[in-house]
Amino acid sequence: MNRMTEVGLTPHQVFQQALAHQNAGELDRAEHLYGFLLECFPDNPDVNHNMGMIQALKGRPARALPYLKLAVAAGPDNVEYGLSLAGVLIQMGYMDDALEMARGMQAAIGGDSRLLDLIRRNESRPWFPVLQGVHAPERQAYMSALVHMQRRGQGPIRILEVGSFMGASLMTWATAVERLTDRPAEICCIDPWDGGDLGQYDYGGSIGQYLEDGTAHRVFRNTLKFIPDRVVVTEMRGQSQEMLPTLAGRRFDLIYLDGCHLHPEVLCDLQACDGVLAEGGVICGDDLELQLHQVDGALALANARKDSVGCPGGDGIFHPGVTLGVGRFFGPVSVYRGFWAMRKAAGGYEQVSMAGAVGMIPYHWPEEFHDMVRRNIGADGLLAGLL
Ligand SMILES: C[S@@+](CC[C@H](N)C(=O)[O-])C[C@H]1O[C@@H](n2cnc3c(N)ncnc32)[C@H](O)[C@@H]1O
Repeated sequence: MNRMTEVGLTPHQVFQQALAHQNAGELDRAEHLYGFLLECFPDNPDVNHNMGMIQALKGRPARALPYLKLAVAAGPDNVEYGLSLAGVLIQMGYMDDALEMARGMQAAIGGDSRLLDLIRRNESRPWFPVLQGVHAPERQAYMSALVHMQRRGQGPIRILEVGSFMGASLMTWATAVERLTDRPAEICCIDPWDGGDLGQYDYGGSIGQYLEDGTAHRVFRNTLKFIPDRVVVTEMRGQSQEMLPTLAGRRFDLIYLDGCHLHPEVLCDLQACDGVLAEGGVICGDDLELQLHQVDGALALANARKDSVGCPGGDGIFHPGVTLGVGRFFGPVSVYRGFWAMRKAAGGYEQVSMAGAVGMIPYHWPEEFHDMVRRNIGADGLLAGLL
């Protein structure tokens, strides 16, 4: 209080200044003034709410939570506070907590359309704070087409996925099983979900934060609630190097590699997966923008420990570890806009044609991607149809 009277401003005026800074995007200044106000009024709900929002806007959701929880505790019928807290909880993968709080507030205040919308939306489909591969959403349609190609076999379709992250690609497999086949399926998901050794992977911080603080795994668990009954998912928590050998003796019809993208890890994954892929089965993976015969091998090797680098003399990026691993193991492979696939035949590996196969739009992805998938799959003309 004393410091405020010293500068000749009332608490209300300081709050208005902080708000003006916040609205102007001057987050540091706003944070400073809210911090100042909280020293004097630690339980004030508006100040706590706004301080929480500043933390969230600064990309620090864990720091936002205590402020937002305090705001909701002090103003339990304030829907703005409730929506802010739910938003941060969902962003961090605490979906159950978010829904419980939203339902409690909804019951207490007798109904609010925004709360109801939040509850319905998240009860009906999975939500991903971040999606991998947004630059090429049509890859999901090619992935589902591989599932369609398995529709005629007997027993469960056995799928192995390396690198599951938040479960978005798992959802692609699982919904394709449900919509494009009559068969049940078993899907094994391998991922350490901890980010403990991300330093060596050079993800550029893009997904590291979600792995390190446990968000990715919490979101993955939420995704599991939306897996169709016909699909059984097994979570195998650990790096592929340690988990793949434990699968010795088992056989899979479809194996998807989207874990570590470095060399020689990709090559080691391919060698280990070769031992558990059934004859006639397909192995596939993400992020093959350039094949080994299309790049200078020395350049790829020089960047083998980088997740991705710029394409030589062109637009976009490529993943040197994927290029090296796939190129050394198979030679040229079939590629569908960066999604590669090879079939294990009696005499060795062969390329995969998807002519005759039907793919699916990834309906668990935001709607804005659906048209792009339709357009690009239509332009490619490599599938028989798209659901
Ligand atoms: C690009 S993300 C996968 C995205 C996911 N397939 C999707 O489409 O939603 C890469 C994932 O691989 C995992 N990963 C990294 N190294 C791995 C390893 N050696 N074994 C298994 N998973 C690994 C990371 O933890 C991360 O979750």
